[in-house]
Amino acid sequence: MQIQENFNLKHFNTFHVSAHARYFAEVSSQEDLIQALDFQQSNNLTFMLIGQGSNLLFKEDYAGLIIELNLRGIEKYDEDDKRIYIRAMGGENWDNFVQYCLQRGYYGLENLSLIPGTVGAAPIQNIGAYGVELSDFLYELDALEISTKTIKTFSKEDCQLSYRHSIFKSELKDQFIISNVSFSLLKEPAVNLSYPALKNALKDIPLEKINPQLLSDTVCKIRRSKLPDPVNIGNAGSFFRNPLINIKQARALQELYADLPVYPYQDLFKVSAAWLIEHTGWKGFRDGDVGVHKEHALVLVNYDKASGAELYELSIRIQASVKEKFGIILEPEVRII
Ligand code: EPU
Repeated sequence: MQIQENFNLKHFNTFHVSAHARYFAEVSSQEDLIQALDFQQSNNLTFMLIGQGSNLLFKEDYAGLIIELNLRGIEKYDEDDKRIYIRAMGGENWDNFVQYCLQRGYYGLENLSLIPGTVGAAPIQNIGAYGVELSDFLYELDALEISTKTIKTFSKEDCQLSYRHSIFKSELKDQFIISNVSFSLLKEPAVNLSYPALKNALKDIPLEKINPQLLSDTVCKIRRSKLPDPVNIGNAGSFFRNPLINIKQARALQELYADLPVYPYQDLFKVSAAWLIEHTGWKGFRDGDVGVHKEHALVLVNYDKASGAELYELSIRIQASVKEKFGIILEPEVRII
């Protein structure tokens, strides 16, 4: 394992902003990882882990050590009548893993097709899309405790997953490194059409003809039509979370704005952040190389050479507009460094 100095992170974040890390290490084994942590501790550096950098905004340079986790491998390790138990190492690309499962007839993750990022990052924010969340199929995960350098196993319950959230973003923030994740998948397809946009896209196909492959293909098609591919335009997917509000707030807003999309979520209501942003006039906005995607108001984009600071500045302006017009505070979904 090699530690590089003054490393440009442009190709390690999907916003493609040029920020520099004082030190950078790519690790592909547990031994590499421990070696990198030893270097960090003996030099008294701050550090952070990245997977594929698909949910990050570097608003400035990073003065410590960045560790890129590249642990690889997938294995089916158990099954029963109904379920397949499969484990993937944290550095596996998420969508490759979804397709790997689909090809082998291990079902459940279809709706999560094409989400950028790695398997190891997925539980941290409990990734979700088109009516499915990681929490629906996570079984357990192994994580390295940084202080003791020992592996601990977390059951799904231990992870405390909720909307774009887990214990690894709160109580245990920066204390563990997820090394592998196990899933309990289905042997029989169970098509989930609960998400309106997905159901609508498949409305002309008879239900018995909708198989998991078609579902995955349709999700990919919807995503490609709305969300820019980071290979072409720098972005990190949804920049903000959809705000969760209580029933009183939801009713008051719906009285004022009848077409505001509001969906029940557990005991609360989820409001469309994209709608709020669009209705403050930001959709399609562009200033130099920063902008708000013209097909989806929740996606901030770097058209070419925007800096992280410029993107951050834009996010602050959007937050202020939404707060002023609707009284709602948008929380970032991406990690801002
Ligand atoms: N909408 C607008 N304007 C827009 C876009 C959308 O008003 O520019 C409204 C529409 O009414 C639409 C509704 O917002 O019906 C919902 O839009 P969409 O289906 O695109 O979903 P979203 O709530 O904006 C969430 C996730 C996405 C995920 C989709 C599909 C969050 C923060 N985002 O977006 O996740 O792909 O649902 O399930 O929960 C990501 O996390 O990076 C991400 C892309």
